[in-house]
Amino acid sequence: MNQDELKKAVGVKSVDYFKSDMVVGLGTGSTVYYMIEELGRRYQAGEIKNIVAVTTSSRSEKQAKELGIPTKDLNEVDHIDLTIDGADQIDKNGQGIKGGGGAHLLEKMVATNSTRNIWIVDQSKMADTLGSFPLPTEVIPFGCEKTFTDLEKEGLNPQFRLNEDGSRFLTHNKNYIIDLKIGEIKHPHLLADWLDHQVGIVAHGLFLDIVNTIIVGYEDGPKVID
Ligand code: 5RP
Repeated sequence: MNQDELKKAVGVKSVDYFKSDMVVGLGTGSTVYYMIEELGRRYQAGEIKNIVAVTTSSRSEKQAKELGIPTKDLNEVDHIDLTIDGADQIDKNGQGIKGGGGAHLLEKMVATNSTRNIWIVDQSKMADTLGSFPLPTEVIPFGCEKTFTDLEKEGLNPQFRLNEDGSRFLTHNKNYIIDLKIGEIKHPHLLADWLDHQVGIVAHGLFLDIVNTIIVGYEDGPKVID
């Protein structure tokens, strides 16, 4: 199986966890794409009824709406039963890096308002320690050069994320992404705490102590880690 087939296998499998009458959170990314596609199929077939979805990006919202899945804003629901999302890297303790698609602010808000979180990934995302995948931060444009300098002084090897035409990548909220090419992150909680206290940083991609279940796509089929 190629990587895309592994993503599809976990995306389809994960929909078993969605039940009728749930408020569901829909993540973002190429793995989540397959999950939403399968959710739409089961919803249209009447196998899953009466759900409402809170989405984490305009891409996922558009896909859900096209499939006829009702959507609501996070402000319009009092809870989310289960969110299924992708991840960029997961360590052996179930801590993760997200934000490769630049959606980690909305993803973190949806995840932290969810009773349960499931991540779906292909096997290439699993690692002993985090950090070989650059850690995304979302920064407000105001004073962003100062924020960049602070990250540089801290030895975090910051780089603005750019579009193909060389312009700065803009998030859903019209902020920039600064990726931190740190290498091995030995103390993720200490780093998360430091980043949480930088006023120009709206959100970082360290998702710690958030996930309940991980579904990993291997050649011989999806494996569930609880
Ligand atoms: C977007 C994310 C995605 O969940 C993450 O990048 C994984 O994406 P993919 O399934 O395409 O590999 O965090 O901000």
